[in-house]
Amino acid sequence: MAQALRSIVGRASAPHKFAALLVAFLTLSASSFAFAAENPGYIEDPSRQTTGIGKFYMGREISFVMGHQAAGWLNRPGRIQEEMPDEVVANMTLRPDEVVADIGAGSGYFSFRIAKLVPQGKVMAVDIQPEMLDIIEARKAEDGVSNIEGVKGEIDDPNLPAESIDAAIMVDAYHEFSHPYEMIDGIYKALRPGGRIFLLEYRGEDRSVPIRPLHKMTQEQVKKEMAIFGLTHTETLDFLPWQHMMVFTK
Ligand SMILES: C[S@@+](CC[C@H](N)C(=O)[O-])C[C@H]1O[C@@H](n2cnc3c(N)ncnc32)[C@H](O)[C@@H]1O
Repeated sequence: MAQALRSIVGRASAPHKFAALLVAFLTLSASSFAFAAENPGYIEDPSRQTTGIGKFYMGREISFVMGHQAAGWLNRPGRIQEEMPDEVVANMTLRPDEVVADIGAGSGYFSFRIAKLVPQGKVMAVDIQPEMLDIIEARKAEDGVSNIEGVKGEIDDPNLPAESIDAAIMVDAYHEFSHPYEMIDGIYKALRPGGRIFLLEYRGEDRSVPIRPLHKMTQEQVKKEMAIFGLTHTETLDFLPWQHMMVFTK
């Protein structure tokens, strides 16, 4: 980019150098953004790992989807110590009127906690498995919760209207999206300007975390996958025993 700038600006006469520099910078920034937003593509490879689907994205193999039959495991008592869900939602620093999408919501382990923090807002609980949404509906009725809306997503589309959400959270879910590019594209479009993405995955850099490799992600890999959308990595919160809580801003 520096070389391209020099070649454009170098041709301009001295009084016009500043204007030429500005135009060149804006042109090159716009073109590199357009290039960066392209889908890097998927690679199919039959030599898959045990919990993988044989499909690779930006150098990592995608994991299989956890079936709704295992929904009970998501509510296991030990998860309170392992994943500290109340501290996670407290660290989202939500305003009471925000609209938050819980993408890959499962049985609503996080949706119900977030709903309490946005009494004038709501939670869009998105999942591709209708059985998961049924579990959420049953609990809504049981607990008298009215600010959670179940959304049936597609494997390549969160089905959220453009600029309709203030924040999105994905907990232990992103690594199993079979179409991660399309999903982040859809989430990015659904976020309002300044909206945040909270991405929680088991730490791929940490061999002591007792989770299979494809169900973990490194910070480097996550940053790489978010960067192509121009999402800014705002911070990584490190208070969790096994996961990264990474924050990105539109
Ligand atoms: C391991 S569960 C985690 C559920 C929940 N986030 C939690 O922490 O309890 C992952 C969930 O992501 C959902 N999922 C997988 N691919 C998805 C996609 N493309 N869009 C929405 N949900 C998806 C699965 O159906 C599953 O319910």
